[in-house]
Amino acid sequence: MAGKIKFQTPRGVKDILPKEQKYWWWLEKNFYNVFEAAGFERIILPTFESTDLFKRSMGEFTDVVSKEMYTFKDKGGNSITLRPEGTAGVARAYIQHGMQVLPKPIKLFYWAPMFRYDRPQAGRFREFWQFGLEVLGDDTPLSDALLIQALCKYYHKIGLQDVVVKINSLGTDKSRSKMVGALTKFLTGRKKDLCADCKIRLKKNPLRVLDCKLNKCQSIIEEASVILIDNLDEASKKRFTKVLEYLDEMQVCYELDPTLVRGLDYYTHTLFEVVIKGKEEMAIGGGGRYDNLVKQLGGADTACIGYAGGVERTIDALKLQQVNIPEDSKADIFVVQLGDKAKQKAIKVIDDLNGLDLRVATAIGKGTIQGQLKEANRLKVPFVLIIGDQEVHDKNVILRDMHDRSQETILDRNIVKMVSKKIEEKNISK
Ligand code: HAM
Repeated sequence: MAGKIKFQTPRGVKDILPKEQKYWWWLEKNFYNVFEAAGFERIILPTFESTDLFKRSMGEFTDVVSKEMYTFKDKGGNSITLRPEGTAGVARAYIQHGMQVLPKPIKLFYWAPMFRYDRPQAGRFREFWQFGLEVLGDDTPLSDALLIQALCKYYHKIGLQDVVVKINSLGTDKSRSKMVGALTKFLTGRKKDLCADCKIRLKKNPLRVLDCKLNKCQSIIEEASVILIDNLDEASKKRFTKVLEYLDEMQVCYELDPTLVRGLDYYTHTLFEVVIKGKEEMAIGGGGRYDNLVKQLGGADTACIGYAGGVERTIDALKLQQVNIPEDSKADIFVVQLGDKAKQKAIKVIDDLNGLDLRVATAIGKGTIQGQLKEANRLKVPFVLIIGDQEVHDKNVILRDMHDRSQETILDRNIVKMVSKKIEEKNISK
């Protein structure tokens, strides 16, 4: 006889249970509010794309492409990859749908799960959610600053404190190659002190050494920062200074970080990460300019900048800072009924109220008033209508304001009129 099989989620993936939903809803709702007002439009990308798209965009020797992609052959023999991020898909969609002919800039956002075969630990999953923003077709330093400013506004709106933007510039392609040349020379001189992975990175893509988190490599990376700054060409320096000037004007809290290179190859010029300062610094998102990516994928020359925030990490930060999440009411009114006759009357009242396009809740199956009020509290309804046998006899109902606990009696014939008036007044005073 077969034993009992106990299924569990695979390592690194999770269920997002009802008790977590208030955080998810809070982030998502504010995300749409802030970024739709900033002119962004939503794009929904496919969950999987051809493997080549990610290899070409993010770079073959990045950790994401070389170690972390969920790649498989489909039944037609095509190599498919579950998206590890959204930028490559956005660039592909921009080209595929001829968006270059639309008025620029094109501002897109997404809110979607991503997949990386990462080492699971706190804030690191194999399926995780990102909210992403991509601005295509604007090369001005102001567009960098405006995106960063909008992000800070978002993080402020959701209640996060101690949010700091770490920022750096890789400059143009030319200054990037000069930088890589000088870095290779420096790192080759220190090769024996590097970790085994960095020895390989040095050979394949020296910039990736700067992503190493091991203590062994940290002091070498710090020394390397001087080389990076020295190799930024004048035009790139000027551009970067302009971005910083705008950020100063906008009073954005930022910190220069010359060792910030980020783990993906498509970046040029401005790079940034959003961190929460605290006992331990926590990165909740990152982004930067990718002026060459669209061209690299076969499209027209299109300067772009974007950002992706980790939803789980942002929620961790909200919890750590004990941010009070206001919960919306899930219904406008809750009808409590006590007794058989009351139940019958309640069904009729609910029917009448539904005609008003209100969200009417009830718990017909629950007998006690305590049980029903508990459910009303859980739904955070502003009003409760109470109907007992006495109210059936007197042809009225009791309307309770759940906020100030005041009660009034309403005649049956006035229920619809009074309830809609009360709810309208409550909505206006919000
Ligand atoms: P990324 O730095 O690879 O950038 O990821 C952005 C954010 O996603 C990270 O800062 C982190 O919050 C979250 N994240 C990444 N991996 C994991 C994981 N395994 N578990 C949980 N959260 C994770 C990008 O993806 C770029 N596409 C950002 C971008 C958009 N650049 C330009 N446009």
